[in-house]
Amino acid sequence: MHVLLTAGPTYEPLDPVRFLGNRSTGKMGYALAEAFAAQGATVTLVSGPSQLPDPASPRIHTVRVETAAEMFAAAAEVAAEADVWVFAAAVADYRPAQVAVDKIKKSGETLTLELVKNVDIAATLGQRKRAEQFAVGFALETTNELAHAQDKLHRKNFDLIVLNSLRDAGAGFGHDTNKVTVLDAAGQIVNFELQSKADVARGLVSLILARLTPSS
Ligand code: CTP
Repeated sequence: MHVLLTAGPTYEPLDPVRFLGNRSTGKMGYALAEAFAAQGATVTLVSGPSQLPDPASPRIHTVRVETAAEMFAAAAEVAAEADVWVFAAAVADYRPAQVAVDKIKKSGETLTLELVKNVDIAATLGQRKRAEQFAVGFALETTNELAHAQDKLHRKNFDLIVLNSLRDAGAGFGHDTNKVTVLDAAGQIVNFELQSKADVARGLVSLILARLTPSS
């Protein structure tokens, strides 16, 4: 089995020394890569800038990228041949409209940046998903969590969506623990306890594998 995984943040350059980014560490995505590899899968881990070292498993091929556009190109290259897609990356929704060649100098009292929308990696690949392929998305929500997650699942053609709520202590960016809720297209819900990201990853991988090979 071949798994395509996106992980970490993206950095969108503004000038040679500055970028727009976010606080994603990549921990959840890297833990998922390890958990899939432990089950014998081959993993292509397309990672935005993360402090984490490349996973040591020979089954995990790590591709380092910086921007959403680079992440899309790397993911699109292997998407057709992957059996499972997991979109754990915190992709920047917008990027600066212009990237200055030289460092932007301080001038006026305010500075307005124009931003343009980035490609939605999950949604774009979702349109090309074949019936036998399985896609899993993530959603980080602060309000109307279940409704927003259900909406994203349908819009992006996911088979499962993993919902993180920032309301839960110990969940989300930077923590070693996570508390997630998994939804499927039929509206079925599985709640995971607060546990280490490694344990959440193992639980998610067994749930995904069970969906791929139904026992009946
Ligand atoms: N995603 C992606 N490419 C993007 C944005 C999001 O692949 N440009 C993926 C994420 O990896 C995640 C899912 O889509 O699996 C949902 O991401 P999220 O940022 O919650 O969704 P958005 O569509 O950006 O919605 P929001 O308005 O809540 O930011």
